[in-house]
Amino acid sequence: MGFRDKVVYQIYPKSFQDSNSDGWGDIQGIISRLDYLEKLGINYIWFNPMIVSPQRDNGYDVADYRNFDPRYGTMEDFEQLSAEAAKRGIGLMFDMVFNHTSTEHEWFKKAMAGDEKYKKYYIFRKGKGPGVPPNNWQSKFAGPAWEYVEKFDEWYLHLFDVTQADLDWTNPEVRKECADIVNYWRSKGVHGFRFDVINLISKSSFEDDPNNFDGRQFYTDGPMEHEYLQELNRNSFGQDPDHVTVGEMSSTTIDNCVRYANGDGKELDMVFSFHHLKVDYKNQKKWELQPMDFMSLKRLLSDWQIGMQEADAWNALFWNCHDQPRSISRFGNDKEYRKESGKMLATALHMMRGTPYIYQGEEIGMPNAYFTDISQYVDVESTNIYKVLKEEGKSEEEIIHILQERSRDNARTPMQWDDTANAGFTDGTPWIQAAESYHTVNVKKTLEDPDSIFAHYQKLIEMRKTMPVVQEGLFIPLLQEHPKIFAYERRTEEDSLIVLNNFFAEETEADLDLEGYEVYLSNYKDTEVLNHMILRPYESVILKKK
Ligand code: GLC
Repeated sequence: MGFRDKVVYQIYPKSFQDSNSDGWGDIQGIISRLDYLEKLGINYIWFNPMIVSPQRDNGYDVADYRNFDPRYGTMEDFEQLSAEAAKRGIGLMFDMVFNHTSTEHEWFKKAMAGDEKYKKYYIFRKGKGPGVPPNNWQSKFAGPAWEYVEKFDEWYLHLFDVTQADLDWTNPEVRKECADIVNYWRSKGVHGFRFDVINLISKSSFEDDPNNFDGRQFYTDGPMEHEYLQELNRNSFGQDPDHVTVGEMSSTTIDNCVRYANGDGKELDMVFSFHHLKVDYKNQKKWELQPMDFMSLKRLLSDWQIGMQEADAWNALFWNCHDQPRSISRFGNDKEYRKESGKMLATALHMMRGTPYIYQGEEIGMPNAYFTDISQYVDVESTNIYKVLKEEGKSEEEIIHILQERSRDNARTPMQWDDTANAGFTDGTPWIQAAESYHTVNVKKTLEDPDSIFAHYQKLIEMRKTMPVVQEGLFIPLLQEHPKIFAYERRTEEDSLIVLNNFFAEETEADLDLEGYEVYLSNYKDTEVLNHMILRPYESVILKKK
């Protein structure tokens, strides 16, 4: 499989590098940083959407699927990027947002003007009574999932923001439009695609959620989901032998993911699932804090590794993305053990079976933004939840604390290039403030340090590229009951790696038969192989069979 020896780097273009002082990242900015990515060693870049959008949800509210938002650049800029990336052996992956469009998209505008063809592109339904929506589903960004349109005396569905209207995938014309869009980008030389919340496209029924939850059981991994994906595959990317695809799967199951990405090539190449990133949600609720439940984290990672492996299906491996707070602040220690824990998280992830994704800034250990005032937050999800939590009577202080831990803006602050104004991201006014940490955590400083987190990522990427045991080895969990260490073996007939990761700031002990193993990579200088090992704070070690 073409992607089993590859690593993907995610760029959030709006925050990566500005080249024209307008405070927005852009394509020319990205081109100017390709040497940096080549140095890191990655194979693909996945870009968050750069196409025309009112930016209510930063590009996930698409108004035109075929043209770049001029703030990012032009088609010529993109062609240059594509050529420059190819020179460095880097492939490009684009984000396809097909569950919904912006209400500014011409399809929706035509629908609202009463054009029946386009009304059928969306999900309009009668309410249950005057002022009562068709059902009790909740938007993922807070509030009801339906918006009333007086003119039709109907409501349209929006699982996300009110300006993101859900497309009706039961309509074959919608499915054809989506395949055409993929083919359009293929004709521009794009081989890689990430499909946004793609497991929400098949809605099963529009009944009330009896548990008064949010309705997700009626639209997640729905009945036609696999058929739709197979059709999209056949009619678009599946025709390209070099394609690489990943689906973002919201609240999914292993059983479904085995079908989405089982290596038969009929649906997708790999999947993002999110269960392991909810182990610090109290009662499964994103806006309620609790320390990470480490035993659940271990169990979820192992279950997904094994469940997918048994079916020869493939995981996308990730701690970070544009929707998640920074892993180093969440599962590591961004203060006294920033370097150790940054490397530990990298090792724990990169040595698993699957394709690792690195989110911009992760490779230098960027922490959460720790904004202290609501005016600093931009994300629609954060500003919405701020109001909801206020109404629930939470104090300002408490809400800011929650946002510091959970807001998506933690991932979206400017990439920290150096310690000049705005972290070297722009010499204009950035669309979102740079996080204070840029004074000490930045690329320039990192590259001066031979023992940096970045240098550690380089080594892990090199291992993925060159070692069959990393690419193809069986995943076998170890020390499953250990309360502090996440450990596993990767094994092929010829080779074996044992990976031990202390997820805590205290020393801890591990008893394993390590006869015949030697240290291959560690985040401490003097790690020794002993059958009774004492791992220091966040110590992480890869042992290789001699
Ligand atoms: C995905 C995207 C997220 C976006 C949402 C709606 O989860 O990653 O950023 O807000 O879909 O498109």
